[in-house]
Amino acid sequence: MDLTVHVWRQKSVKDQGAMVSYPARNLTPDMSILELLDQINEELITQGEDPVAFDHDCREGICGSCSMVINGVPHGFEKASTTCQTFLRSFRPGVDLYLEPFRAAAFPVVKDLMVDRSALDRIMQAGGFVSVNTGAAPEGNAVAIAKSTAEDAMDAAACIGCGACVAACKNASAMLFTAAKVSHLALLPQGNVERGERVLRMVAQMDAEKFGSCSNQGACSAVCPKEISLDWIAKLNREALRSQFQRIVTQADRTVNQR
Ligand code: SF4
Ligand code: FES
Repeated sequence: MDLTVHVWRQKSVKDQGAMVSYPARNLTPDMSILELLDQINEELITQGEDPVAFDHDCREGICGSCSMVINGVPHGFEKASTTCQTFLRSFRPGVDLYLEPFRAAAFPVVKDLMVDRSALDRIMQAGGFVSVNTGAAPEGNAVAIAKSTAEDAMDAAACIGCGACVAACKNASAMLFTAAKVSHLALLPQGNVERGERVLRMVAQMDAEKFGSCSNQGACSAVCPKEISLDWIAKLNREALRSQFQRIVTQADRTVNQR
């Protein structure tokens, strides 16, 4: 199949970017978007031109690095799929493809389709550690956790940190990502020691990183390749409220005891 591929080219965050069109010929329907870019890059390198910069690693929907916008949708319109899991067979032959970087103030463009998503890492770092010794794997039933709780925690832990939720949100909010990260630890006993402080630190870091506010439109969950539910945002809000309330109660207790 043949396609015309329009790719956002931008040398650095300081340079002006523009769409550049590349005709791509003799493609096979089973090629992924990343393999299409590989082919374009091989031709560019052969012609002595600068190849298109894009992020990728696992190429099987696990690492979350292949973040780009395909025809206006982060990771493309295939449900529950990352860019590396989006194949040319999903598009009509002869169709035009538009590939752009994720756009958000917190995700500055590094080059072409590659953006700096380290703001998400800093939210995770703000959450800190769990003060439970890890060591060797314990006996499976040593810590009793209800099956439904374990399954909920696994659902939240499925977030791969790709940032598509931010790119899809008109406010560039990172609430869905932060909610998933806060919730999976809050549900399990191992994450309970720092539960209260963790949520407040992560939310504070999220605000400090220029992410916008959540307005409950749901665009984040609709594009999420791991189908992280909006329910987790409600859980994040409950966790933050719970923690703030506990702080007030602790402070009040201290004041009473000092009298
Ligand atoms: S919540 Fe979904 S879209 Fe957002 S970072 Fe996690 S996996 Fe990606
Ligand atoms: S390259 Fe790892 S999720 Fe796509």
